[in-house]
Amino acid sequence: MATIGIMDSGVGGLTVLAELRRLLPSENYIYFSDNAYCPYGRRSAEEITARAHTISDIFIEKGADIIVIACNTATAAAIASLRKSYDVPFVGMEPAIKPAVQLTRSGVVGVLATAGTLASEKYAQVRERFKEEVKVVESVGEGFVELVESGKFLGPEAESVARVSLEPLLQAGADVVVLGCTHYPFLTRTFEKLAQDLGVEVDFINPAPAVAKQTLKLLKEAGIALEDGPGSVELLSSGEKDSLLRAYSLIENLL
Ligand code: DGL
Repeated sequence: MATIGIMDSGVGGLTVLAELRRLLPSENYIYFSDNAYCPYGRRSAEEITARAHTISDIFIEKGADIIVIACNTATAAAIASLRKSYDVPFVGMEPAIKPAVQLTRSGVVGVLATAGTLASEKYAQVRERFKEEVKVVESVGEGFVELVESGKFLGPEAESVARVSLEPLLQAGADVVVLGCTHYPFLTRTFEKLAQDLGVEVDFINPAPAVAKQTLKLLKEAGIALEDGPGSVELLSSGEKDSLLRAYSLIENLL
C-alpha cells in the first residue's frame, strides 16, 4: 500500500483527495490543510515555498511515498524547489486549458484562479501554448476561497460573490470555464445556477480526475506497490480543524 501525502492551503485539496480515493481506494492518505496560512493566493512565492517544505517534511516523517500538491498556487510557487529537495515524486496542479481547448465551441475559454496562479510564470507558459488556438480570458475568484473555507458552498451569499468573477467570463463568450484553484469545484453547483440564470450553457472543468490519474502513473513508474487493503485517511491542519471536518463530510454530495 502506498502512503500519499496531499496538501493545500485549506479544504480545496479535498477535491483531489476525493478523486484519488475513487481511483485508488486501498491506499493510505495523509491530508494537510494549511488553514493557519490560508489563503495562499496573496502570499509571496517565498512564503508559500517555505510552507510547502515544512508540510513535505511532515509527510516524509510519516512515510509518504508520493506527495500531491493539491493547490494550483503552491504548485506554481514551489514545485520546482520541492522536486529538487526531496527524493519522492511530486504531483502538481496545472490549469486544465488543454481539455478546455478540445471542448470549446465558441473558441473562448475562461480561467478562474487565484491572483498568485494567474501572475505565475508557470501559468504564462500554459497560456502561451494555446494562444493560437483559442482566446483565453481570466478572472480572479475574489472571495471564493473564503466562502469555501467557511462552508458557504450554496445559497444567496455564494451566488452574489461568485457572480462578480464568473459573469465577466461568460459575457466574454466563454463556454468552458477551467477551475484553476482546487477550492472552486466546491462551488460548481453555484456556478451552474448562475450560468443557467444567465441563459448560457457552460462546462466547468475540474482538473482533479486528471491529477488522480497522473498520481497513479507516477506511483507505477516509481514501482510503488499498490496492494489491496482497507485504505485510510488522516486529516491534519495547521489551524482549527472544524472547516476541514465539515468539508470532508460534505464533499461526496457536492462534487
Ligand atoms: N486551493 C488553492 C489553489 O488551488 C489555493 C487557494 C488559496 O489559498 O488562495 O490555488
